[in-house]
Amino acid sequence: MDAQIHGLTVAYTDEGTGTPVVFVHGFPLNRTMWAPQVQALSRQHRVITVDLRGHGESDAPLWRYTMEQFADDLTGVLDHLSIQQAVMAGLSMGGYILFALYRKYANRVKALILSDTRAQPDTNEGRAGRFNMAQSAYTQGSGAIADVMLSKLLCPASLHTRPELVQQVRGMITAMTLGGIAGDLMGMADRPDSVSLLSTIACPTLIIVGELDLATPPSDARVMSEQIPGAQLKIIPGAAHLPNLEQPEAFNDAVRSFLASIG
Ligand code: MLT
Repeated sequence: MDAQIHGLTVAYTDEGTGTPVVFVHGFPLNRTMWAPQVQALSRQHRVITVDLRGHGESDAPLWRYTMEQFADDLTGVLDHLSIQQAVMAGLSMGGYILFALYRKYANRVKALILSDTRAQPDTNEGRAGRFNMAQSAYTQGSGAIADVMLSKLLCPASLHTRPELVQQVRGMITAMTLGGIAGDLMGMADRPDSVSLLSTIACPTLIIVGELDLATPPSDARVMSEQIPGAQLKIIPGAAHLPNLEQPEAFNDAVRSFLASIG
């Protein structure tokens, strides 16, 4: 399915009935990364996955890739579906976007699930790395980005023993346009510090992180869980930056119990 949001075609999937749960993917991926969650959770909940602008089947404009613009697009999808409030679940860049969304539209958020993300902004070194990566995408294409990203996204065991998973993730990355890759990288480099937002988050919050995540490690998850009032923390063994794909059962169990606890 798709919707016209802010002049762009935005693709989404909407399965099941019950409490709406919107899943927001990371960089440089798309909504198909949530396939195990759609399958397992849509039996009891309304599961919505969205391709952010520049990703998957959504339009990829050349500019306007700020975290706030992504948040505006997501609330556009909620409006399109006549959903006033939803549980919002974001992984990595998806989490950065949810901080922007909470800052601007807290009344649309019933609960938050923040997976493999962090509240701190980029360091100067991190920002320089974003620009280098955008430059590599420009000169060498999305395959070069896949080569760099795969070992950040998946743990060594997944990389060595799960060729289908590796292929699935590589396929999402190589399908990205240059505009989408560069737009995400510039948007992430410019995102504000969200640490001071944490103590103001008043909705139920679940934080999930892969035990082996080096990109946004468990120490970043602890910063969030210690500062968001009442937040729960779930560390998933045997997973790096994509626990929803590497250990889908453990990830789904954590989400299922959290959703049951908030009613
Ligand atoms: C992501 O998974 O969305 C990215 O790795 C986040 C980042 O680069 O900060």
